[in-house]
Amino acid sequence: MKLKICILWVVAFGISIGYNKLQSRDTPNRYAFFTPAEIWKDDLGNHINAHGGGILYHEGKYYWFGEHKSERSNAALVGVTCYSSSDLYTWENEGIALPVSDDPESPIVKGSTIERPKVIYNAKTGKFVMYFHLELQGKGYEAAHVAVAVGDRITGPYKLVKNGRVNAGKWPMNMTEEQRDSPVKSTDFEKWWTPQWMAAIKDGLFVRRDFEGGQMSRDMTLFVDDDNKAYHIYSSEDNLTLHIAELKDDYLDYTGRYIRVEPGGHNEAPAIFKNEGRYFMITSGCTGWDPNAARLLTAGHIMGPWTLHPNPCRGDDAELTFHSQSTFILPVQGKRNAFIFMADRWRPQNPIDGRYVWLPVLFENGLPLLTWFDKWDLSIFEQINADFPSPGR
Ligand code: DGJ
Repeated sequence: MKLKICILWVVAFGISIGYNKLQSRDTPNRYAFFTPAEIWKDDLGNHINAHGGGILYHEGKYYWFGEHKSERSNAALVGVTCYSSSDLYTWENEGIALPVSDDPESPIVKGSTIERPKVIYNAKTGKFVMYFHLELQGKGYEAAHVAVAVGDRITGPYKLVKNGRVNAGKWPMNMTEEQRDSPVKSTDFEKWWTPQWMAAIKDGLFVRRDFEGGQMSRDMTLFVDDDNKAYHIYSSEDNLTLHIAELKDDYLDYTGRYIRVEPGGHNEAPAIFKNEGRYFMITSGCTGWDPNAARLLTAGHIMGPWTLHPNPCRGDDAELTFHSQSTFILPVQGKRNAFIFMADRWRPQNPIDGRYVWLPVLFENGLPLLTWFDKWDLSIFEQINADFPSPGR
């Protein structure tokens, strides 16, 4: 009997230690786990304000850049925020990396729209380079600009160097001569969404329309490959087609080499990673702030061809990407096959309350798989690697 009680006590004590270890924060707002979609406080005790974000790992620390959102508006009233962390759970507020401007002539004047900022580091120039989706104040989403800002320090301040459309006067590498020379114009169509119109879109109707002024650029991410070549990946052609555009060595401009991905496929929110020589991209469909089913694409080369696969999400709410929309896929430093899918659960009525849905990328038959966890930590990747020594093909 005594032995039984003793065992029970040891088990209960063990459970309570384990539970406390998970729950405890050594100091306020220190975390040891991820709780997707819950309030996530920074070191100052405020819910992290870095929406549509991306992360750069630099000299032993992760830096999370994102959109500052306020209570009633999705417009940029403050700028791009930056947080830092050495363990990915606990984040320090590093302030505003790129402030909006008070100058009404500035493209990033307070009240413009700044979305999905991403930062990369250029080892050759020693500069930190930020790209983001910029919409001009009072013009809705019609400008469809990309903006480039540069900083000498990772936390900023970043200075806007330019903004505009992409690759004016350049054809996508995967558009045929026939498609480039087609006489079909967008003004030939009275109605959108007819089968004829969709066929023309796939054939590059909007690429031709925007050829001179440059291609539209809305939802976006950046990717630096193993050879240090960087790429801008963005929703173009009125969000109907993704483009992947190669950047010059200084990451400040385009080389003019770019491809179209899934013409007419209506993809937004691109997030990309590379594992064992293969490229994986997760995107969303286009339903404004409302969630929809994620899409998965893979390629053996970043410049394609890209293959579309079924929705990588499984389980409850898989058709709504667990009520979220992709923004970035983060390789965890020092771990094999360890990637975090980062997504936003938008709250358009109270944007500052938008939540972060971070989930581990699992693999099934060589393809990424996402499933919901109420609570998880990085040790899951050891488990994955023990179960599946290599994601395989
Ligand atoms: C969906 C995009 O992914 C967001 O970044 C934002 O542009 C909203 N649409 C606006 O409706």
